[in-house]
Amino acid sequence: MVLSTAPKKALRLAGQLSRRQLKQARAVATITPPHQAAAISRLPTNVDPSSDEFKDNERQMAEVMARMQTLSEKIQRGGPEKARQKHLARKKMLPRDRVTALIDPGTTFLELSPMAGYELYPEAEVPAGGIITGVGVVEGVTCVIVANDSTVKGGTYYPITVKKHLRAQAVAQENNLPCIYMVDSGGANLPHQADVFPDQNHFGRIFYNQARMSAKGIPQISVVMGPCTAGGAYVPAMSDESIIVQEQGHIFLAGPPLVKAATGEIVSHEDLGGGKMHSSVSGVTDYLAVDDAHAITLARRCVSNLNWPAKDPATQAAVVPYAEPIHNPEELTGIATTNLRKPMPIREIISRIVDGSEFSEFKRDFGTTLVTGFASIYGHKVGIVANDGILFASSSVKGAHFVELCTQRGIPLVFLQNISGFMVGSASERDGIAKHGAKLVTAVACADVPKFTVVVGGSYGAGNYGMCGRAYSPRFLWMWPNAKIGVMGGEQLASVMETVGQKADPELKARIDRESDATFSSARLWDDGIIPPQHTRHYLGLGLNAAMTGRNAVKAGDTKYGVFRM
Ligand code: COA
Repeated sequence: MVLSTAPKKALRLAGQLSRRQLKQARAVATITPPHQAAAISRLPTNVDPSSDEFKDNERQMAEVMARMQTLSEKIQRGGPEKARQKHLARKKMLPRDRVTALIDPGTTFLELSPMAGYELYPEAEVPAGGIITGVGVVEGVTCVIVANDSTVKGGTYYPITVKKHLRAQAVAQENNLPCIYMVDSGGANLPHQADVFPDQNHFGRIFYNQARMSAKGIPQISVVMGPCTAGGAYVPAMSDESIIVQEQGHIFLAGPPLVKAATGEIVSHEDLGGGKMHSSVSGVTDYLAVDDAHAITLARRCVSNLNWPAKDPATQAAVVPYAEPIHNPEELTGIATTNLRKPMPIREIISRIVDGSEFSEFKRDFGTTLVTGFASIYGHKVGIVANDGILFASSSVKGAHFVELCTQRGIPLVFLQNISGFMVGSASERDGIAKHGAKLVTAVACADVPKFTVVVGGSYGAGNYGMCGRAYSPRFLWMWPNAKIGVMGGEQLASVMETVGQKADPELKARIDRESDATFSSARLWDDGIIPPQHTRHYLGLGLNAAMTGRNAVKAGDTKYGVFRM
């Protein structure tokens, strides 16, 4: 990439150079060390951190981020103090401490949707949806980790808990990652049984997934650190290997009270489903641990015996050395704006996310409201598709073309969404915006390379589809705290409702605005989390690592497209 851009730049200067100078320029381009040659495609910056606009943005973003920070700290604590003290008195590690102890020291846990469940259930707070999920490195192996938080209503499954568990399994499946379940749960949250039990993507889907994941060769390990009742008993029973903590972990289809009611048998928890029984009599578990710390050591040992990834160099992603962006990512908080009516300089954002702030822009002067080009993030080559205005026919076609280039070459795609939609109006319709937009949507839907989406501003209307919204299966989708998502803005929506004959509703705009907020989205798992803008590069790096390492082979030209209407 580096050398191919260098001669092009030299050639662009050709008209101003003598033949001898041109020859010299070409020679320099060919021999220039990569880091210098790459500077040719380095993005410039016009950001002035001392400007009023920058300071205004920074002040507003600081407010939004302070609110996120307060929320996040509260969520990190888990359930109520009383429940945490009860948990600790039982000599159990808190779930976040379990995760920290499980992953390799000094590595980062890529937590998924910590805001899940926020303000979702009027009767109770359900911090993090009662379950902690994410991607972490264990014994050098990138794994998905799912840990129940039994300080939140006994770790029982609310509808959002089920959704989050299933999402973690989807991440494991899509990225071909081993999965570790740290089980400590009372099973279904009974008052919510209608919304957690009967439907396709309810509780039963967890075990369906376990079987299908196993069939695909995805290893699954369970660590039973608390109750594992009824349906929940299938989590360890369907894992490749299971560990249980003695006198703490219990696995049974029905607990002692139910057994007594059903059969009259009186039996203790330990005799009915304790670690000793299951590890020496039933064989439901394979390893007996004396406490949480021991169980975690055993889980790490299990991972080290997975022989994962396969020792086939052809399937290993080639990661090359990388440079940090030359423009400061911290400045993103002064570039991002909470006023989504204002344009956001997308190249300034790209230059603070990609390696060395280097960007080989594709079709720069055509369809200019969509910025496309190649870059690297932590040494992974990526194709970037970023909004710089409304999508027109030209920008849509350009996007589809660029997506095709990336799939043909097996290059992951990063979408930076700040989109109010496709262009409307008779000129645009006559131009065939519907069929050109459909090309972009088709390309994005079919693109069989890892896709990542970051909503840096608005995510409105069909623009959400063309820019790889949640329905288009990006491997990860993150929101900036200022981001908004909805069919359209609250004001426009309220006015459309009036034009279709509804009485003006003063509450409607406010409700729609509230429902478009990033926290509303994250609470419902429409995304994988709200991230600080300045850490975008880091999150994308972790996501790329999950997608491109291990047993994942991204093959060039694997994508099969449907019909592109011409
Ligand atoms: N559904 C809804 N809420 C439940 C629940 C369930 N299945 N099980 C427990 N809770 C609630 C409790 O009412 C309590 O709420 P509170 O904090 O508002 O008082 C909270 O979760 C913690 O339960 P508690 O029994 O105090 O905690 P514990 O750590 O001593 O025991 C369990 C936790 C899960 C082992 C125990 O509550 C239990 O056995 N629950 C029933 C499990 C069951 O039969 N599930 C059916 C699965 S299909």
